[in-house]
Amino acid sequence: YATTNARSVELDSISSVPSETVDINWDNLGFGLVHTDYMYTMKCSLGESFTKGELVPFGNIEINPSAGVLNYGQGLFEGLKAYRKEDGNILLFRPEENAKRMISGSERMCMPSPSVDQFIQAVKAAVLANERWIPPPGKGSLYIRPLLMGSGSVLGLAPAPEYTFLVYVSPVGNYFKEGLSPINLVVETEMHRATPGGTGGVKTIGNYAAVLKAQGEAKAKGYSDVLYLDSTHKKYLEEVSSCNIFVVKGNTISTPDIKGTILPGITRKSIIDVARDQGFEVFEKPVTVDELLDADEVFCTGTAVVVSPVGSITYLGKRVTYGSAGVGLVSQQLYSGLTRLQMGLADDKKGWIVEL
Ligand code: COI
Repeated sequence: YATTNARSVELDSISSVPSETVDINWDNLGFGLVHTDYMYTMKCSLGESFTKGELVPFGNIEINPSAGVLNYGQGLFEGLKAYRKEDGNILLFRPEENAKRMISGSERMCMPSPSVDQFIQAVKAAVLANERWIPPPGKGSLYIRPLLMGSGSVLGLAPAPEYTFLVYVSPVGNYFKEGLSPINLVVETEMHRATPGGTGGVKTIGNYAAVLKAQGEAKAKGYSDVLYLDSTHKKYLEEVSSCNIFVVKGNTISTPDIKGTILPGITRKSIIDVARDQGFEVFEKPVTVDELLDADEVFCTGTAVVVSPVGSITYLGKRVTYGSAGVGLVSQQLYSGLTRLQMGLADDKKGWIVEL
């Protein structure tokens, strides 16, 4: 593929984009970090706005031990993907949605945020500077990880005086080791991911450290991941550690409504639209464990996991299976509807695709 750094974004902070092919087995990608060439970074002070960032070689960053993000978890992250099309063009999926989610999260976490335009320009620059790391069509995608953190020093509890916005990328394949095969979830009845009034609805880094214990215990017992319940009634579904959840019954699809404790997933929102276009009736509402156990199909959505079918759910020691070990028809149909759009194989009638 030709390296085209003359596309719609200026890469003026670097002298050249490496074009040599990378030594990587594209057939063997999982979801682990692969070091790429460049990352994008931009700083600003508390009370000010981000102005100009730059591409720098990918590598470790220097940070004061008393940085807000290290001491008090003042940090947010995002996740989105770039796909390579057969014609060599590069596609981003709804990057403005990630930008807007970072802005709303930054308000909750008392941080300045890049504007939508700055966010998208930074993402484009990071992708184009690392173009040779984008997998060939059908082999995976380039996962883009924007971070926003309190990088200035604080000792007493307060917003940090300085902030760093950073974007790094890594080629990825499937998130779960099961690949596209159904995953096995266990419902967590003791630990919770989020509480009303807390930060469950924003993509703050602390939400993810908080699930590691339950996730680790579940994995040790052979499950793929954990499904969380609401902390008040312990009866309504919330989400899985790294993705949202959907239940299918006949022509009806339900997913927990967004009410502060659930991450407003961009894949979640897109799948709701794709499902409605395919003729399903979709409800965003409280979904009970009983509905989950009674469903025809269950699947998870997320940028990293895309659409992952669920093969079984274990709740209080009882295991319910879906389908006959294969991928359910509805999950398959929605996966295909979404990924065809993301990969540029279907007509982008909704204007979700940003072509680089
Ligand atoms: C994503 O799906 O992009 C996420 O941010 C989830 C993360 C735990 C991999």
